[in-house]
Amino acid sequence: MTKTTAKTGRAVPAPSAAPGLVVDYAPSIESDKIVTIAPRQQLYIGGQWVKPVEGRYFQTTNPATLAPLSEIAEAGAADVDAAVRAAKRAYDRTWSKLSGRERGRYLFRIARLIQERARELAVLETLDNGKPIRETRDVDIPLVAAHFFYYAGWADKLGYALPGVKLAPLGVAGQIIPWNFPLLMAAWKIAPALACGNTVVLKPAEQTPLTALKLIEIFEAAGLPPGVVNIVTGAGATGAALTAHPLVRKVAFTGSTEVGKTIARSVAGSGKKLTLELGGKSAHLIFADAAIDQAVEGVVNGIFFNQGHVCCAGSRLLIEESVAERVLDKLRTRMQKLRVGNPLDKNTDIGAINSTAELEKIRRLVETGKQEGARYYEPENITLPAKGNFLRPCLFSDVASSHTICRVEVFGPVLAASTFRTPAEAIAKANDTPYGLAAGIWSEKGSKVHAVAAQLRAGVIWANTYNKFDPTAPFGGYGESGYGREGGRHGLLPYLEVVP
Ligand code: NAI
Ligand code: MG
Repeated sequence: MTKTTAKTGRAVPAPSAAPGLVVDYAPSIESDKIVTIAPRQQLYIGGQWVKPVEGRYFQTTNPATLAPLSEIAEAGAADVDAAVRAAKRAYDRTWSKLSGRERGRYLFRIARLIQERARELAVLETLDNGKPIRETRDVDIPLVAAHFFYYAGWADKLGYALPGVKLAPLGVAGQIIPWNFPLLMAAWKIAPALACGNTVVLKPAEQTPLTALKLIEIFEAAGLPPGVVNIVTGAGATGAALTAHPLVRKVAFTGSTEVGKTIARSVAGSGKKLTLELGGKSAHLIFADAAIDQAVEGVVNGIFFNQGHVCCAGSRLLIEESVAERVLDKLRTRMQKLRVGNPLDKNTDIGAINSTAELEKIRRLVETGKQEGARYYEPENITLPAKGNFLRPCLFSDVASSHTICRVEVFGPVLAASTFRTPAEAIAKANDTPYGLAAGIWSEKGSKVHAVAAQLRAGVIWANTYNKFDPTAPFGGYGESGYGREGGRHGLLPYLEVVP
């Protein structure tokens, strides 16, 4: 909001709005005309679109409008078998025969094509997932391209990944991904697998298959040989058939801890390599010497970003007692200004909860939080759209370590806050979880940040920031958050074996 002075023509800022007042932005809706969605989509096996043997299809919907988007083929065991065999043939006949340099060229080409079609992919992801266009446009899709660029660069340099040992690809990788970052999770898994010389059968989440299927157009445009990447859509049974297939040499899974455990049991003793990236209950630690406004912004970003559908969401907040009321007041004021609504609106901060089932699960956990006696706050000034899976963000304070909302992964825009008096207490509380994916430390004192970070059991620790991703940085957790690392040089190793 600016106006110009008559004399100088220079812009002067308008008087600032009263504190707590939400400035109304005119809607700025991204057009969905750029995407075409086929009404019915098949499986992609051996470079062909094929119908599922059993002829079954399921629907994927737009969680913001609940309108159906497309019918998706459901792969049965026979289809999964065909896909794995196609991947094995492509591995034996083409992909494992190429030099690293040649594989890298395909990956660079894919990365560039993703950049060229970034807007289309961002809109499609927003339609299928419900997350705001601002995130798919500024976070998800740029990171998808970045991961292909990064691993393209490794393809001809694998000899430097573990100097002094000879490395070889494994063969067929079976990859199963969730609905919260559909295309980004596909990139995290496909790019290192191909760079290392493996071929892939990918199973997208049943809630969000569209961008992975769209990626096939890009692979074809890049001339990727048939069978190098195959896509089998379907739900848990399709995933289970993939992990159980005897020709699969490596299983990569991101999703719930419960399914991760099932997969670990199913591959035990098979000789398959396994990486699991599971849930979390990550904590922010705000010390009294922190830059409070920045910390509040980081906390908001860490839990309300992507509707809280983030495995490393900062869902617990630990605040040093002397600043706790100040932090919580600022947080409540900030929450009133969050914009919840149409994910295609470029002003939207919080989009739609991905599915009705997830919405119900979050609501149940919020009710439990209220019943167990934590102090509840939700910004009632926020009006929700009449239709679609929307929810106001909320904050529980005076949370005890025994409360369900402090222990269980909610996977929604729900923050659980409590206080501490000493760094030792903060560390003990942060580590008091079966998970160990991420943590955020907020302090202006570098030595304190390092000392605390060294004692936190979390795979990723951010200092004075949160939810920043980069393909060069390994990502993964401790305990029930899974094992193995994705990203960076570490992310190559699950796709390679040491040979004599
Ligand atoms: P899920 O773990 O059931 O689904 C993840 C993927 O695994 C999907 O592609 C699904 O089809 C597949 N799958 C399901 N059962 C399988 C099986 N037996 N074998 C092989 N693949 C199988 O997660 P869901 O049901 O979508 O979400 C439930 C909860 O899990 C969420 O509320 C959240 O708490 C957590 N979650 C965590 C994620 C993370 O990034 N860590 C991602 C998604 C969910
Ligand atoms: Mg499930």
